[in-house]
Amino acid sequence: MFVVRGGRPLRGRVSVSGAKNAALPIMAAALVANGTSVLHGVPDLVDVTTLSSVLRSLGMNVDRRPDGAIALSTCDEQRCLADYELVRRMRASVCVLGPLLGRRGRACVSLPGGCNIGHRPIDLHLKGLRALGAKITIDRGYVFARVDRLVGADIYLGGSFGSTVTGTCNVMCAAVFAKGITTISAAACEPEVVDLGNYLNAMGAKIEGLGTPLLRIEGVDDLNAVEHTVIPDRIEAATMLIAAAMTGGRLQVDNLVPAHLAGVIDALRMMGVMIEIHDHTAIVTAPDTLRALDITALPYPGIPTDVQAQFTALLSIAEGISVVTDKVFPDRFMHIPELMRMGANVRREGACSIIAGIKTLSGACVMASDLRASAALLLAALAADGESVIRRVYHLDRGYERLELKFNKVGADIARVVDQPETMPASLQLSEEEQQPLAVDSSDSPPPPKFLSRRESGQPKFK
Ligand code: EPZ
Repeated sequence: MFVVRGGRPLRGRVSVSGAKNAALPIMAAALVANGTSVLHGVPDLVDVTTLSSVLRSLGMNVDRRPDGAIALSTCDEQRCLADYELVRRMRASVCVLGPLLGRRGRACVSLPGGCNIGHRPIDLHLKGLRALGAKITIDRGYVFARVDRLVGADIYLGGSFGSTVTGTCNVMCAAVFAKGITTISAAACEPEVVDLGNYLNAMGAKIEGLGTPLLRIEGVDDLNAVEHTVIPDRIEAATMLIAAAMTGGRLQVDNLVPAHLAGVIDALRMMGVMIEIHDHTAIVTAPDTLRALDITALPYPGIPTDVQAQFTALLSIAEGISVVTDKVFPDRFMHIPELMRMGANVRREGACSIIAGIKTLSGACVMASDLRASAALLLAALAADGESVIRRVYHLDRGYERLELKFNKVGADIARVVDQPETMPASLQLSEEEQQPLAVDSSDSPPPPKFLSRRESGQPKFK
C-alpha cells in the first residue's frame, strides 16, 4: 500500500514511459513475424510480464535485453492455447487471437475475465474474424478458432459504444494475411492502433488509412520481423499533467506526443491550467483556481476513458459544478465512493457523475479498484491535506512504471509500505476518545426524549 503525505506542489521534470496499450498488441503481433522482433520503449509493467508469460506458453521466446529492449521470436508454432490461468490476469491477452489465426490458422484463447470498469465483451472481435473466414465456437469459457485460408472481406466493426481498440488490433493482425482486400470500417483510430499498424507495415504488411475509421488492407503471404520503438504513453502523460494541475505545481513533462493529447490539453486549458508545448515536451503550470468543466470520455480523438477517473479527481477541487460522462465504459465510476471518503462531493447519475467542487480534499484510507481508479486516488492523495493510505496499489503497477518514484522526484512524499497496522499513519487512526460511543454530557444538552407508551400519553387504543 501507499502512504501519501499530501499538500505538496509537484515541481520539476518527469518523463513519460512507453505506451502499455501499444506495447501489448505489438508484442502479441510478434507472433506473425518470421525471425526476431526487437521492441524498444516497452515499459516494465505487470501487464507486460503477464503477456510475456502468455506468449511463452504459445511457443515464443520473450527476453528483456540489458538495454531494456524486448526480443521476441517463435520457437514452437504448434502451441495455440492461451490458458485461462494466464488470460484471467489480464484481459488484453485476447490480443493474441488475431495473430494466432493469421499466422497459425488456429487458436484456443480463454474468454477474458470480468473487469471493474464494466462489461468487456469481444463479440466485435469474433464478428471480424468470422468475416475473414474463421470458424469460431465458444465452449467451456474458451474461444476455439480455426481457419484454412483467410479471405479478405468488408467488415464493419462499430459497436454500441463506438469502435473497439483491441478488436481492431485483432482483426488487423488476421487481415494482413487474408487473400485479397479487406476493409475495416468503424475501425479504432487510437494512436496505439496506429502504432501497431506501423509495426505491421514495417514488417511488409499493406495497411492504408491508419488513424482513420476506414482501413484498407491488402493481404500478403509473409511478414519479416523488424525493430520497433513503442510510442509514448498518452495516458501516463495525461496523468502527470493532471497531477501538476491538482497539486498547484509546475511540471515539465518530457517524451510525449502533443497531438495524442489534444482533447486532454484543451480540457485542462479550459479549466485554467497553463500548458506550453515544445516539440515532445509540455510545461504545465497550475492556476490559483481551477474552473469547473463538463467532460465526456469518447473514442479517440475524444478525451480518453482511461483519463476519466483522473479528471474526476481534478474536478473535485475545481470551483463550480462539473458533469463527467463516460460514453465508452458507462459504469467506470468505482473511484467515486473512494474520492468521497476524501471529502469529494460527487453524485452518480447513470452514465454520468455530477461533481460539486470543494476547496481541498482531506487525507483518508482508500482502496484502489482498477488501474485508472488507483491513479485517480493517488492524484487526490497528492492534492489532499494530510496523510492518505491507498490499498491494493497492485492495480497501479499493472499500468504505470513505478509512478510513485517519478512523483517523489518532483516533490511528492509517497511511501510504498507493507499493509499492516504499524504502517498505518497515526494521523489516520482514531483516538481512544473517538473510538468510544458518544457519551451524552447531561450538563449542557437537553435529556433525550422519553418515549411514552400510548397509555402514559393518553392516546386512544388502536380500534
Ligand atoms: C482498450 O480496451 C484499452 N486496453 C483500455 O485501456 C481502454 O479503456 C479501451 O481500449 C478504450 O479506449 C488496451 O488497449 C489493452 P474497446 P478494449 O474494445 O480494447 C465495447 C487501461 O486502463 N465492446 O475499445 O478492451 C466495450 O464494452 C485499459 O489501460 C463491445 O461491445 O476496449 C466498451 O464499452 C482499460 N464489443 C467499448 O466497446 C467488443 O467486441 C470500447 O471497448 C469490444 C468492445
